[in-house]
Order: sequence, then C-alpha cells, then structure tokens
Amino acid sequence: MSNIIRSRLGHHARVLAVCSSVVIGAGCSGGEDIVDEEVAFSAVDQPLTAVAGDPLPGITAADFAAAKEAFETEEELEDGVGPIFNEIACGNCHTEGAIGGAGVQIERRFGRFDAAGRFDDLANRGGSLRQLFTVGPFTGLNGQSCNPPLEVEPAEANVRNVGRLTTPLFGAGLIDSLPDSAIIANANAQPAAVRGTINRVRVLIPNPNDPTQSVGGTRVGRFGWKAGVATLNQFSADAYVNEMGITTQHCVRGVSILDFATESKPNGITSPLGCDDRAPPHGVAGIPAETDDPVGSCAGGLTEIQDDVALFAQFMTFLAPAPRVAIDPNVNLRGGTVFNAIGCAQCHLLRDYVTPARPANGVPGNFTFRPRSDFLTHDIGTGDNIGNDGDSQATTRRIRTAPLWGLHHRTHFLHDGRATTIEGAIAQHGGQAAASRSAFNSLSAGDRAAMLAAMRSD
Ligand code: HEC
Ligand code: HEC
Repeated sequence: MSNIIRSRLGHHARVLAVCSSVVIGAGCSGGEDIVDEEVAFSAVDQPLTAVAGDPLPGITAADFAAAKEAFETEEELEDGVGPIFNEIACGNCHTEGAIGGAGVQIERRFGRFDAAGRFDDLANRGGSLRQLFTVGPFTGLNGQSCNPPLEVEPAEANVRNVGRLTTPLFGAGLIDSLPDSAIIANANAQPAAVRGTINRVRVLIPNPNDPTQSVGGTRVGRFGWKAGVATLNQFSADAYVNEMGITTQHCVRGVSILDFATESKPNGITSPLGCDDRAPPHGVAGIPAETDDPVGSCAGGLTEIQDDVALFAQFMTFLAPAPRVAIDPNVNLRGGTVFNAIGCAQCHLLRDYVTPARPANGVPGNFTFRPRSDFLTHDIGTGDNIGNDGDSQATTRRIRTAPLWGLHHRTHFLHDGRATTIEGAIAQHGGQAAASRSAFNSLSAGDRAAMLAAMRSD
C-alpha cells in the first residue's frame, strides 16, 4: 500500500512520515528538513470508480439515504428556524461536488480586541457569528405580533466583517476516528519554523460509543477552519443552532447537555417567549422553554443524541472522500515530489493516515486515507483575528492546515474564500509558509505545471 517511491538516484532518503507515525517521546527529534525523496501526490491505490457523495462501507444504503435526507431537509418556523439564521438546511450550504461538499456561502464574524490585546467575542452583542437573516414578522405562539430584529455589526466591534467559507465534509468521519496521538505526532515531527499548534478543546457533545470521549473532557480539535471542534456530534448541534436557529438538548451517560439548547439573540436582545420561532415549548423540567427539540430527562444514565443531530453526524461520518481524477502517474509522481521538495508537505502532509482497527464511530477499520493536512493550526499570515473569548492576538491568527483533497470540486479557497484558484491560494501563504511560497515562485515551468496538475487531480 505504500505510495512512497524510493529515490532512483540513491539519495539518502528521509521521510517525514517516519516521524509522524510514532508517538511522542519515542525518539523522533523533529527538525527534519525538506525531504529529498520522490513522492506521489495522490495515493495510487485510491479507487477511481465511486463518485463524490458516495458512502464509505459500513452503512446500509437505506441508512445513508435517511441520514442524507435529514442533512438536506429544509426546516421552517414551525420546526424552530430562527429567530435569526443563515440558512434553512445543512445541504443548502454544503453543495460543491455533491451534497456535503464545500460551498460558496461566506459567513460573517465580528469581535473586538480590548486594550490588553485579548479577544472579546462580543457574545452579549450577538458575536462572533453574525447571522445574516431574521425570520421577520410573524404571529407568535401566544398570538402576539413578533418581528425579531436583523443582527447588525455592533459599533464596538473593531474586528469587522470577517468572512468564512463553507468547508467540505467528504471524509470527515475518517478524521473523526483518529486518536489524538495521530495529530500530536505531527507537531512533534515538524521542524520548529513550521511547527503547528495542537488545539486541545473541551468536548461538549462526545461520541458516546467512544470510551475516550466524555462530556467536558478534552480532545484535539480538528474540525472547522480553526480546528475549534473535536467531534462531529458537536459540530452538528452547533451548526443546527448557529446556522439554522434550531436548538437541541442531548443526554450522554445520564448528563443533560444544554450547550446548544438556547436561541441566538439578535445583537444580544432576547426574544419574548413564543417570538423566537413557532416550535412549541415542551415543558421538560430543567430544559429551557426555547429548546426546539429536547430529548428529555437523562435519568438512569440515558444516552440519546437528538435525532436530527444524530442523523447529520451519521451522514458526515460515512461520507467518503471525494474520488480523485485520473492522472498520468508520472505527472502525479513529479507533482508530489515538487510539492514535497518545496516544503508544502511539511504542513499538507503527503502521508497516509490509517483508521484504528475498530473505530468507535463505525467507519472501516485500518482504512488508509490521505487528507494532506496535519490538523494543526499555523500562522501563515492569512489569519482573521477571530477567536474564542480571551484569546491572544497570536491565537486568533492561527488557522488549521486546510486539507487538500477534493480540490477539483472547489471554486473558492482559503478561510474567507478570497482565492478562486490554487495559485491564488498559494500566493497568500506567508508567515510559517513564506519559504515554501517563495520556493514555489522560483519553480521551473515544468515543475510548477506538474505540481498544479497533481493538486487539481485530487
Ligand atoms: C449558512 C451556510 C451553512 C450551513 C447552513 C451549514 N454549514 Fe456547515 N459550515 C459552514 C461554514 C462557513 C463552515 C466553516 C465554519 C468555520 O470553521 O468557521 C462549515 C463547517 C462545517 C463543518 C466542519 C468541517 C471541517 O472542515 O472541519 C461541519 C462538520 C459542518 N459544517 C456541518 C454542518 C451541519 C451538520 C449543518 C446543518 C446542521 C451545517 N454544517 C450547516 C457553512 C454552513
Ligand atoms: C506552515 C504550514 C503550511 C505550509 C508550509 C503550506 N501551507 Fe497551504 N495552508 C496552510 C494553512 C494554515 C492554510 C489555511 C489558510 C487560510 O485558509 O487562511 C492553507 C491553505 C492552502 C490552500 C487552500 C485550501 C482550501 O481549502 O482553501 C492551498 C491550495 C494550499 N494551502 C496549498 C499549499 C501549497 C501548494 C504549499 C506549498 C507552496 C503550501 N500550501 C504550504 C498551511 C500551510
């Protein structure tokens, strides 16, 4: 299965992957330099037959179809959409290549740096995500006239109108299955100048089937532009409320999870009850009346993820990586070798990850995949100054190494979609990626063409 081809020139071969596959402290010092080895950009054994949007093995066609249908379903005021929202279905944003792909929607965020240089997410003013729509005038549940205001960027924001592009979800379940150690090892293997930061985050909704995850425990963040979320269950509930305005409650091992149970308040203004949306209140003790879809009491050690959220997570878990486009193996080899030699692969690793033998989320065991990311965050000079409350400015500039698979389906690149070509995205690389960008600019026409062709074939 190895896709690394030993140098025919008999160079001393040093491979980053040798270090990145060992656990911390096992003797890999890091500090490895650019690899003088011939490396294919795409794994040659990756199947070419499937189409984007197909499932991985391990789920029945009927179950996958049901999960996909939930992801695509457009919700309404009666289902709990609003009071403010960005869209009414997951599938309305994640569209490129197939349902679940990247998108062209650019979301908007704002925030503020205080005098001490700390980030304030302005949560009390509706930040940092600015929902772009209000449900508008409607008759509330108590017969009252409702008209939730549109959220606007507040005057006190000094980080303004920051864009966030919709990311692709192909292969997300494979990433979710990785143990923290697979990501931590990447940081240890990187030379100091490009070393990424491990973003360990609190888990609000774990995968209950994974004994290593618990409510309030930590896991290495890996999802979203800032690697700010560690599990697909959590991202699902988070997106449901933040993108669509649908609030949910969950139980995991008897613990009631209310982090996603309260409505967004337009610029911090609470809607009167019954004016948040038209989903009926449920009157379950301990659960806010504004929760559109609660699970109920968690007594007796109950574990239950709200059904839509569970279906979204199921769909994303089994969404296979988008298959690559056929490419001349010589171009694939030359392109990958150039990509490696100029340092792109220091962050966009040309290594295969392998899922655990029996992944807790049900994806195939011992499955090889190549997302071309270290799942670490870096400052490459594109940072947007948006972070979590209390973050330093340095933290707010770091972005996850964007996985470089499925690129041929994409029309926009970088976290704010500012680039419309791969070359345009490369040109924006500075900071920790400045050296590799300069090396790219000095490539011969042939090397440059091979590298871009290899990237576009994926
Ligand atoms: C209005 C458009 C929009 C809608 C609707 C939407 N998303 Fe997204 N999605 C985004 C954007 C933008 C990002 C990147 C967010 C970030 O990191 O700031 C994203 C990222 C994600 C990610 C992270 C993937 C990765 O690359 O790590 C997941 C998972 C996800 N969305 C799931 C969902 C689910 C589930 C729904 C429905 C409940 C949904 N999204 C609805 C725009 C949308
Ligand atoms: C120090 C780590 C690092 C190095 C080295 C690096 N990148 Fe990146 N790359 C990133 C990060 C971080 C992002 C996301 C930046 C953003 O969205 O603002 C990114 C984004 C990209 C994207 C856009 C992907 C998307 O989904 O929008 C492309 C294409 C890309 N890099 C190609 C390259 C190439 C080619 C090289 C070598 C010339 C390279 N990168 C070197 C870290 C790196």
